[in-house]
Amino acid sequence: MASAAALCRSPSLLSRGHLLVCLLSTQTQLTNPPTPTTPADLSRLKSSIRDAATSPDALATLFLSGLPHPAFLADRPLFALSVHRLASAGRRDLVASVLSSSLTALPSPHPSEGFLLRLISLYSAAGMPDHSLTVFRLVNPPSDRALSALLSAYHDNRLYDRAVRAFKTLPADLGIKPGLVSHNVLLKVLVASGDVAAARTAFDEMPDTAGVQPDIISCNEILKGYLNAGDDAAFDQLVKEITGPKRRLKPNVGTYNLRMALLCSKGRSFEAEELLDAMGANGVPPNRSSFNTVIKGLCNEGEVGAAMALFKRMPEVPRQNSKGVSPNFETYIMLLEALVNKSLFDPALEVCKECLRNKWAPPFQAVKGLVQGLLKSRKAKHAREVLMAMRKAVKGDAKQEWIKVEAQFPMLLADKKA
Ligand SMILES: *[C@@H]1O[C@H](CO)[C@@H](O)[C@H](O)[C@H]1NC(C)=O
Ligand SMILES: *[C@@H]1O[C@H](CO)[C@@H](O)[C@H](O)[C@H]1NC(C)=O
Repeated sequence: MASAAALCRSPSLLSRGHLLVCLLSTQTQLTNPPTPTTPADLSRLKSSIRDAATSPDALATLFLSGLPHPAFLADRPLFALSVHRLASAGRRDLVASVLSSSLTALPSPHPSEGFLLRLISLYSAAGMPDHSLTVFRLVNPPSDRALSALLSAYHDNRLYDRAVRAFKTLPADLGIKPGLVSHNVLLKVLVASGDVAAARTAFDEMPDTAGVQPDIISCNEILKGYLNAGDDAAFDQLVKEITGPKRRLKPNVGTYNLRMALLCSKGRSFEAEELLDAMGANGVPPNRSSFNTVIKGLCNEGEVGAAMALFKRMPEVPRQNSKGVSPNFETYIMLLEALVNKSLFDPALEVCKECLRNKWAPPFQAVKGLVQGLLKSRKAKHAREVLMAMRKAVKGDAKQEWIKVEAQFPMLLADKKA
């Protein structure tokens, strides 16, 4: 057992069979409850797993009992939710236990490549990139898709050096030919590590070293690097190149979002807004990130009226097969804080109510500013509504904190009781 453990720490020395043994031997021993037999049993099992009151140990036990069902193994959201719950509870032992058992749950050809790719990213989401590597080595024959999944796992866990090393060594060791997607993950890694020069070199060398042409995603990664580095000249040059004779690529929503982010960072948010209109006209409908980028820029420049007007256009904007993009929590917060800051309490009330209707509680400081403003403008009724809606929206530990904020408005609370 001790020597097996030592071997398991250097997975490159091991065969596929040994790797499976490693994954299995690290698991916490759990006793299997009876396997559900009817579809009704299975759906009961799934809802117990989803139930927030189920403890991590109980969740893992239920999970194991579902594994013999192909339909259970195919339920990606349930796998993701279970791994998230176990990992957030600090129970990586149970994550290893349930995922390693899932490998042997069905007869061959399970686990398929697709299933192994899923495990690589599930282990990554649980903050277990070493396990991602072990699963990567089970993929037979080794593939470029598996390589890009592993690189993404390293990226998402901020293991940038390891990702770069893996990209340099694994393809030669395993006979993989890295394709466009793996290269794009490499560019993303290099940009995230702050080395835009290395990213640009890798980008320029793609055609010669790997025979792959950079696509618009590759270009966006590099643009992001220039944006982060504040290299406007290189940014603008590459934007021109994208549509030029050398590349002939079509900018996508990511390209436009980066261009708008650059303009906003220069205090040119109105130009960003013009670009938002232009992209739709060019057949690239803006998405929520596009709106949030420009709304944030306008708010930062104190142009709250323009930000609010843009916010109102969100439900109407044409999309590919529908219309409208919905705001998210970030949208509401940016607007609420900017409006309260400018003492524009009527629109702030509107934004705050809409946010609360989505059961999102805005930051207390902004709500407090709004309530004070409403009181000053003799709108106690609205102020009280905001307090009551907050009370419903605030969850968990924050409740105690919120009660302290509420207590600063005794006149509103006293009225309510009367
Ligand atoms: C908008 O597009 C960008 C670039 O493709 C993408 O990263 C982002 O997730 C999208 N945002 C939404 C909310 O769809
Ligand atoms: C509004 O925002 C500006 C800039 O962030 C800040 O300096 C100012 O103190 C804020 N005013 C109020 C009333 O919160």
